[in-house]
Amino acid sequence: MSVTVRVPAKVNVQLAVGAARADGFHDLANVFLAVGLHDEVTVTPADELRITCSGPDSDQVPLDRTNLAARAAIALAGRRGLDPAVHVHITKDIPVAGGMAGGSADGAGALVACDALWGADASREELLDICAELGSDVPFSLVGGAALGTGRGEKLRTLEVGATFHWVFAMAGRGLSTPAVFREFDRLAQGRDVPEPVVSQELLDALAKGDPDALAAAVSNDLQPAALSLFPELAGTLAAGRSAGALAALVSGSGPTTAFLARDAGSAAKVAAALGASGTCRTVRTAAGPVPGATVVAGA
Ligand code: C5P
Repeated sequence: MSVTVRVPAKVNVQLAVGAARADGFHDLANVFLAVGLHDEVTVTPADELRITCSGPDSDQVPLDRTNLAARAAIALAGRRGLDPAVHVHITKDIPVAGGMAGGSADGAGALVACDALWGADASREELLDICAELGSDVPFSLVGGAALGTGRGEKLRTLEVGATFHWVFAMAGRGLSTPAVFREFDRLAQGRDVPEPVVSQELLDALAKGDPDALAAAVSNDLQPAALSLFPELAGTLAAGRSAGALAALVSGSGPTTAFLARDAGSAAKVAAALGASGTCRTVRTAAGPVPGATVVAGA
């Protein structure tokens, strides 16, 4: 018996970042959109906890207990007095260390899969609590769709979205560490007042209407200057996507994946082809959103 859960990547259409808090985290106004790039997490009973991973970037995925999928299995087992003796296999399609919540997706996926495998019957609320313990972006991987995250990003309010948005994602040749990008944000913010993070009403209206032009005018990412400072070549990728006709170009989360909003699926394919030919990135993918969060696809 095994259980497989499919979990989406995310793009942040707004990422407003406040000043560093006493605990080192930053208050955010974080508008997440789940997009159709997925990891699959399969859990099978085993003698002891073991993680394996397959997929193009799988050699960069940690297979020890730092992996959020391992931590999710341990957290749920701990609450139920169980031994987390499972083999967790991750079929990876979300870029690693890319700013698209790939590690968070695996944490949420393993949690939902273990819950089903063990018949742990955790409530939605308990699952969300465990996700928030695992990391700031993990609750969103569970719920998917579109949501506003406040606090350090873990307090979620579901958002209405009026249409499917079409995106192109350019993956970079190396990853960026999220803590390093936040540290660079702090360094760049030295000597100036960082305003409280506030969600953009214009952006919420654009999502609700399903209007790609209005969304393009409203997207923003306060971590982008920090990501560009650590990874200056990303400016060339953003420029290539803009000149290929993208409505908006931005760094996804802490990067280094760059995200390009297109008017429709046909336009996304054109932008993707131009970016692929530009020599400014490693690979290019198209994906639409919103899509559902962690979903059991086999073995429930
Ligand atoms: O919550 P998570 O473990 O995913 O966060 C990774 C790192 O990103 C944190 O250790 C912190 O350095 C940074 N972070 C932050 N403020 C947030 C979310 C993350 O500073 N709201």
